[in-house]
Amino acid sequence: MFFASDNWAGAHPAVAKALGEAAAGFDPAYGSGDWDKRVSQRFSEIFEREVAVFFVSTGTAANSLSLSMAGRPGGVVFCHPEAHIREDECGAPEFFSGLRLHPVDGVLGKIDADALSKAIDRYPPCFVHGGRPVALSITQATEIGTLYALDEIDALGRLAKQSNLMLHMDGARFANALVALDCSPADMTWRRGLDMLSFGGTKNGCWCAEAVVLFDPSRAEEFAFHHKRGAQLFSKSRFVAAQFEAYLTDDLWLENARHANAMASLLADRLSSLPTARLAWKPQANEVFPILKKHTAARLQAEGAKFYDWPAPGWYGQPIDDDEMLCRFVTSFATREEDISQLLSLLG
Ligand SMILES: Cc1ncc(COP(=O)(O)O)c(C=O)c1O
Repeated sequence: MFFASDNWAGAHPAVAKALGEAAAGFDPAYGSGDWDKRVSQRFSEIFEREVAVFFVSTGTAANSLSLSMAGRPGGVVFCHPEAHIREDECGAPEFFSGLRLHPVDGVLGKIDADALSKAIDRYPPCFVHGGRPVALSITQATEIGTLYALDEIDALGRLAKQSNLMLHMDGARFANALVALDCSPADMTWRRGLDMLSFGGTKNGCWCAEAVVLFDPSRAEEFAFHHKRGAQLFSKSRFVAAQFEAYLTDDLWLENARHANAMASLLADRLSSLPTARLAWKPQANEVFPILKKHTAARLQAEGAKFYDWPAPGWYGQPIDDDEMLCRFVTSFATREEDISQLLSLLG
């Protein structure tokens, strides 16, 4: 009953097989081999335009190095208060980019466009005491398993362009969002004004594969220096490429994400039919947030269920009683219906 996070799951067998195949023979190092070239080409096909792709080891590295592209003295990045870059990356984005994160509120884990507009207005031109806005970072799917609709990304993208901000997306759960919105990768990214994407593979079936995708390939040369200086230029880069090749073949990435999302819907449906649980908000991807009695959660944990308790977000206006707690359950490509039935049998 592993619902703590999607990165508790192993690697999909096709990814594991590709890693095994990459172990044999020789291939040029530092991203110049055939594997890397094929995968870069595949990314361009998937995004329906030429993109520049750089492999990195973690989502934190992808976010930090993406934002370093916007680095300028006094630079400010807008993000949601719950953003992983702000709460869970130990200051790495600030460290690598030299930028300051400015939180912008919004319900359901999403930045509100009016609040963003007001935040931008706090920095008039040449206001050296305050700093200057240089980027906007959004997370898709969000940290609480909700989604920006395409028109919401559009609105934020327009605001970003008007104010000369680079637009970044933390796509640690990019595939989960994509299949939930049933749109193309291009529609969720550069067609909405995105400049750079942290493209996650690790949570959705890879062993360790994340990438920074730049939608303007002329920025690749500049990024290459951030990449190397950030200690992310793998010498045996083919092992990351091999994972991505398997991941992106025959739509495995989309299939894995569809499965994870379907398991989350099933879990949410079954939880909401119980008198002992209620959903804090509707899950849209692969994370489910129920409110449980504390003694019920303790019993589940004692029976071996793995999940996290979660702080109630500032915007969450519903009462959570003293004897209750908000919990987070995450499903993955490896979650089985039996795991959900086993969990529910303990709640029934
Ligand atoms: C929204 C989000 N962004 C990025 C990451 C990547 O984190 P890591 O550096 O652990 O790979 C995570 C992982 O939990 C995440 O949930």
